[in-house]
Amino acid sequence: MGRPYLSPPPRPGRRGLPLQPLALYIHWPYCARICPYCDFNVVRDRGRIEEQAELGRAIIADFEGHRAVTGPRRLVSIYFGGGTPSLMPPLWAGEMIAAARSLWTPDPGLEITLEANPTDAEVARFSAFADAGVERLSLGLQSLDDKALTFLGRDHTARQGMRAAQLARHAFRRLSIDLIYARPGQTTWAWAAELEAATVLGAEHISPYQLTIEGGTAFERAVRRGAWQTPDTDTGAAMFETTQEVLNARGFQAYEVSNHARGEAARSRHNLAYWRGEDYVGVGPGAHGRLTISGARTATRAAPRVRDYIAKVKEEGVGWDERETLSLRQAAEERLLMGLRTLEGVGLGEVAALGLGADNAKLGELAQAGLILVDDDRIAATCSGRMVLDRITTELALANPDAVAAAE
Ligand SMILES: C[S@@+](CC[C@H](N)C(=O)[O-])C[C@H]1O[C@@H](n2cnc3c(N)ncnc32)[C@H](O)[C@@H]1O
Ligand code: SF4
Repeated sequence: MGRPYLSPPPRPGRRGLPLQPLALYIHWPYCARICPYCDFNVVRDRGRIEEQAELGRAIIADFEGHRAVTGPRRLVSIYFGGGTPSLMPPLWAGEMIAAARSLWTPDPGLEITLEANPTDAEVARFSAFADAGVERLSLGLQSLDDKALTFLGRDHTARQGMRAAQLARHAFRRLSIDLIYARPGQTTWAWAAELEAATVLGAEHISPYQLTIEGGTAFERAVRRGAWQTPDTDTGAAMFETTQEVLNARGFQAYEVSNHARGEAARSRHNLAYWRGEDYVGVGPGAHGRLTISGARTATRAAPRVRDYIAKVKEEGVGWDERETLSLRQAAEERLLMGLRTLEGVGLGEVAALGLGADNAKLGELAQAGLILVDDDRIAATCSGRMVLDRITTELALANPDAVAAAE
């Protein structure tokens, strides 16, 4: 099993107690155009500058509403996701960062990430975002092949993508790139060559995602009418393995199913908060959050439509329109699912509600099959195990039926 990622020691709070970590996700839903594969909560950016300014103000007010719920915390990450947050005026991002820093206690290693598309208009604002406090850029390159970019409905070329990566390296301390593979007609060999080319762009972090056909997207309609197909399961699996081999050979470690980093310091602190079951605030339309409220793990979801979200924050001080207290069992299942995605795995004590002792027969069976590693009090999925995570989690969640009743 990989060595567990070491967090910095907790900083003391006012009464000498360590402050618990908190990550902050800010959803900016506007996009210049909607990509045919994307099912994120997005809207076309048609100018609407007054609405956007109102949303920016509501987001900051929502921070304040959340601060009243979380109490003092050690802020470990601020993540601007979308949508396309790089279309937001950099000044607003600066105001949001300042507000978050003043409400919670910034960790010395506070990570501040912005997602961006590699269009010329966005690249021109990179240095303004860096001045606003962003230190890590997550660039949606998606492909280094012009035909593939056209197929994916992107409004940039491979050349623009490479140039954006180069400029991002100068403007920001840290760069991550996203790629989409297993596109129709793509061979494993072609994917390996494309990925190799991506490794020399100076990114410390690469996230290659297998193309998923999401319900309600233009791609789903195209597949349904038989216009094209994605590669079959075996080819997809071969491409996944190729991804691991190419990136490994180039010094990128797969610390999560689709996330590869050059060294521990290059790992996404923000995503680690999700996978480690730490608390995170989700603000902006449709954002999800997980908070410990009165000792219980609580799932929040902000109102998805921009207008509803703004109204909700005005009326209630926070933007969530759904809030659910997870049972111990639900929380443990989620922790298992998330933890098994990562190299560091999950502590058996963290999923105690599932009743999985180190001597559990199912754990032994899955370890025997080469799908998981059990090391004292931790379990982690192997590379083969990461390809069948749903199966492993379902089997483990049901491995001790007696724990079900006890945890409810
Ligand atoms: C919020 S999205 C994109 C951020 C940014 N707006 C962009 O397009 O570059 C985050 C990432 O999810 C991935 N993604 C989105 N939909 C996907 C799908 N259907 N299949 C595979 N990857 C997907 C893309 O790589 C994308 O960069
Ligand atoms: S992939 Fe990015 S740019 Fe395209 S619609 Fe989704 S969030 Fe917007």
